[in-house]
Amino acid sequence: MTYQNKKIADVASKLDKKFEGLNDKSTILRSAEFKALVAEIPKLEPKERAAFGKELNQLKSYFEKKVKAEQEKVEELDTIDVTAPFDVNTKEDKKPRLLTADEGSIHPLMKELQDILGIFERMGFEAVESRQLDDDYHMFGALNFAEGHPARDDYDTFITTEGLIAPAHTSTMQNRVLRSRKPPIQMVIPGRVFRNEDLDATHEHTFYQLEGIYVDDGVTAGNLIATLKTFLEEYFQEKLEVRTQPFYFPFTEPSFEYSIKRPGRDWMEILGCGMIHPNVLKEGGIDPKKYTGFAWGFGIDRLVMLKHGIEDVRHFESGKLSFLRQFK
Ligand code: DAH
Repeated sequence: MTYQNKKIADVASKLDKKFEGLNDKSTILRSAEFKALVAEIPKLEPKERAAFGKELNQLKSYFEKKVKAEQEKVEELDTIDVTAPFDVNTKEDKKPRLLTADEGSIHPLMKELQDILGIFERMGFEAVESRQLDDDYHMFGALNFAEGHPARDDYDTFITTEGLIAPAHTSTMQNRVLRSRKPPIQMVIPGRVFRNEDLDATHEHTFYQLEGIYVDDGVTAGNLIATLKTFLEEYFQEKLEVRTQPFYFPFTEPSFEYSIKRPGRDWMEILGCGMIHPNVLKEGGIDPKKYTGFAWGFGIDRLVMLKHGIEDVRHFESGKLSFLRQFK
């Protein structure tokens, strides 16, 4: 586009350059240079005005067309797939190789959990999953934690603004199980649990536990020790030595830490257990004069780490394929 009028020609070439650099192209006709041209009109001799006005209009419609073309270009851009695992501009040979569904595999924890539940099923236990959001009553009250008792501090977890709790252990399910059934009660409860931890190779904020409950007429601590030994020997597929040490949990009396010794290895404490506290039975609607029971809780991650020699618990939640593929 050429212009007879020198001023208009100058501004036209300036605006052309400016246009390229503009983010919002539609502002071009609001620029100072264009406004200055418009402001010239009243100062012109009447006979010059018509020619000037004509060229100014040409300039204006030239840029209006450019703005419109630019806007159409933007609308034509491909929509972006925000779920794509690479940038849409990635060159063909640089695109990552995508996994097809049949290349995936079940997560090692879930695979092990299936095996664990299989063993307990053969031992006569029924399984029910725990919840991932619970309340203060099931987390503490129903488990004989006194209000303000320091034992609550061992279960530091996450709380919603409505006061709901991301459960720090699967014991939150004990009351529900006791209330929903009549003895004999023989249940295992796997579930995801959460703790506010400083993370390291043995501490993760999210992990899995398996709770067990057995209530009947005349159940003893001897039954507890033998039941767990049977399970653990089946799981590890080797003969184990086992021992218990006194411990404290508000929800059991007596309470134990349970340790195992695998052939050629050191003793290792692997779970907490005990005889269900009479207050917990009562709260669950079961007469503690008539029935006794035992319960336990262990970290599934912990057991799987021991079995497979996994050195860092954080692998499980990492989603790293190099780790996951070893269990395919
Ligand atoms: N809930 C306990 C914990 O996470 C583990 C536990 C101990 C569970 C003793 C039980 C039990 O059922 O009887 O530390």
